[in-house]
Amino acid sequence: MSGGKGKDMEKTFWYKDAVIYQIWPRSFKDADGDGVGDLMGVYEKLDYLKSLHVDAIWFSPLYPSPNADFGYDVADYMDISAEYGGMAAFKKVLDGAHERGIRVIMDLVVNHTSDEHPWFQASRRGEEPYKDYYIWRKPKKDGTLPNNWDSMFEGKAWQYDEVRKAYYLHIFAIKQPDLNMDNPRVRAEVKKILRFWLDMGVDGFREDVITYISKPKGLPDAPFYMPMARGIFQYNNGPHLHEYLNEFRTVLDDYDCVTIGEAPLITTKRALDFIGGKHPELDMMIPFQCMEGDCFLQDYSHHPFCLVKLKTIWQHWQKALRGKGWNLLYIENHDHPRVISRYGSERYRTESGKMLAACYMLQQGTPFIYQGQEIGMTNLRLPRLDMYVDVMLKNNCRIASKILPQSLVLKLAQNSCRDSARTPMQWTGGPWAGFSETRPWFYVNENYHSVNVEAEEADPDSLLNFYRELIAFRKSEPVILRGSYTELLPQSPNFYVYCREYESRKILVIASLVAKETYFTCPEGFNLADGELIFKNHDLNVCVNNAFTARPYELRVYLFE
Ligand code: NOJ
Repeated sequence: MSGGKGKDMEKTFWYKDAVIYQIWPRSFKDADGDGVGDLMGVYEKLDYLKSLHVDAIWFSPLYPSPNADFGYDVADYMDISAEYGGMAAFKKVLDGAHERGIRVIMDLVVNHTSDEHPWFQASRRGEEPYKDYYIWRKPKKDGTLPNNWDSMFEGKAWQYDEVRKAYYLHIFAIKQPDLNMDNPRVRAEVKKILRFWLDMGVDGFREDVITYISKPKGLPDAPFYMPMARGIFQYNNGPHLHEYLNEFRTVLDDYDCVTIGEAPLITTKRALDFIGGKHPELDMMIPFQCMEGDCFLQDYSHHPFCLVKLKTIWQHWQKALRGKGWNLLYIENHDHPRVISRYGSERYRTESGKMLAACYMLQQGTPFIYQGQEIGMTNLRLPRLDMYVDVMLKNNCRIASKILPQSLVLKLAQNSCRDSARTPMQWTGGPWAGFSETRPWFYVNENYHSVNVEAEEADPDSLLNFYRELIAFRKSEPVILRGSYTELLPQSPNFYVYCREYESRKILVIASLVAKETYFTCPEGFNLADGELIFKNHDLNVCVNNAFTARPYELRVYLFE
């Protein structure tokens, strides 16, 4: 299935025409009845994925892990967690996916490991060759921490280790020590890991916080105070980042694989440093900004949704990358709450879900779909903070609790936690939503009685069937794959309107992002009566003089030939 390997291999850029489905394995499907999702569960659902017309699966980490950060704390890079079925189950899924024409992308988490990784255990004992695999420092002369950086997940970025009698750096949780990528042996390990999986037949990697891997010389203090993530401007985009990525490329270039970079705070200009030029270091970057339509920077500071902000971001990425780099399109993943609860409406769940799908999927780039997005799963609102499990949320709550009342902290958690994206996938209206035969590891969203795959399969007008049609359409339509992008009405607070054009064909997307009826007048240059309405999500009000009253979250997509 992979497009070949070796020095003479020609890259096919298969990912440019692909739609990629993300699986967060713990919550996708439990086949062995222990309440935790697993690979045999994925195997059972390969035909479902095929029926969605997706071309690739990106697996969030499947490696053995103590799960301090649900797999993003890796204890062995060359194996598959026994909880998920081990290597035998992985190979079965890999073969089964390839037989169906579906490629498989792994998560590469090499900024840090688990503290239970044998490398770390040997490193803390000072054993060679692992002694300098991590970033160890003595306290400063006055006994204070080596620098003033914060971790993303648990207090300060330094943890004292009694065995080594030194601090180690952890940008994420205490159980996620940062690797010392300046050590050539560590980079050699990364290359070994890449080759191991590529030789097995996997088709690429999503590279976790890859812009954090090169730390600045001397690990300088952050010069100013920040309430959280202090130090990020020091360790993000570090001095040897490009050098290291080019080194990894020497392996990746032997395979027809895709690489996807995760880079917090990424801008279009920075993105092009990685994915632009003749010999890019990575193929696509995850444009975090498009998840900021209802927050200041990150999800936790929940604000009212601002359409103009979101449209400006979308427009910016579409324009800036055109002809220079390839866009990655997404509206959900395992790190963000559910999009219908954020940019759409739970009351108009199906309508707003369809509208949002068309808004991003008809742009130029490679769309990603996160498990459950295709059936319109929504946020989980638990009644108590201690019922949530995510390490990042716990940290955010600790910080917020210092200045906000508990009731508000709970509300913020309900609206903005990562746990909302991690509830068990809702397959049926039966016990445990058909995810498992037993109580799942985490709460099932109560709406599973009506929001589930089985119910949506049976309804031709469901969101699920809309996704199927939309994906099939985008894959067959050169306008979507290659056409230009022009935004119309950029200042409208109610409508997102854009046109794609290729040769003599045009596609016009008209989307209302408000919960009320709103009058829409078509911009100049288009006569709606001449177009063919190819997608909609409501019974339509009539169009008179090129204008109509749009229903809440209405979507119309017209084709002009
Ligand atoms: C980004 C991943 O997407 C997130 O889930 C994880 O917690 C951090 N990186 C740390 O690995």
